[in-house]
Amino acid sequence: MIRLNKYMADCGVDSRRNCDKIILEGRVRVNRKLVNELGFMVNEDNDTVTVDGRKIVLKSKNVYIMLHKPKGYVTTVKDEKERKTVMELVDVKARVYPVGRLDYDTEGLLILTNDGDLTYKLTHPKYEVTKKYVARIEGEIEERDLEQLRRGVEVDGKKTAPAKAKLVEKYDDGCKVELTIHEGRNHQVKKMFEAIGKNVAFLKRTEMGEIRLGGLGRGKWRHLNDKEIAYLRELK
Ligand code: URA
Repeated sequence: MIRLNKYMADCGVDSRRNCDKIILEGRVRVNRKLVNELGFMVNEDNDTVTVDGRKIVLKSKNVYIMLHKPKGYVTTVKDEKERKTVMELVDVKARVYPVGRLDYDTEGLLILTNDGDLTYKLTHPKYEVTKKYVARIEGEIEERDLEQLRRGVEVDGKKTAPAKAKLVEKYDDGCKVELTIHEGRNHQVKKMFEAIGKNVAFLKRTEMGEIRLGGLGRGKWRHLNDKEIAYLRELK
């Protein structure tokens, strides 16, 4: 058994002293029951502690993995239409869930974790974590199209933030473009190309900030290494 404020600090909520304040503010529940007194003891193995309704987990029990999502899988824990989900591709005991979303027909880097803080940081635009995509486009693309993508195009009535866009390969019937954005609106990459009259035939995410998919095979997953985890935890 350990004191609630220490447990909260070990979960990365805040310093012990600030955790005491959070407890006194009535924001903490243990096994669904409000606990607003100091000195309460919790069992780290069995008790469920929530702060503002969100379950907290010991940092030492946080699990971070990357998956090379293939096409044909939904990015969700459970699909109402009974389609295959990304959860079927990973095999970890901890209850991890995907951070953000890749479309059914999009491939590439997907992070899964049970760390709620990280999920927030990676999906909230204020942290400006870059996401790099490789898109195969039908037809040709001109420098002025790329320039439009860089400056921002209208998507769902709102201009997109400045982006990086680079032509990396040309084929007979299309080309490959690298697009780096830091927003995460719904179907953003496809809609950005649509806004300049281009159709995306294939889309793959290769990087999120300093986390790179590298040579991980399609459908394969791995734990993030210490350096990658430290990078994610230090995002500000
Ligand atoms: N943008 C898209 O259009 N689709 C994705 O899956 C990710 C980003």
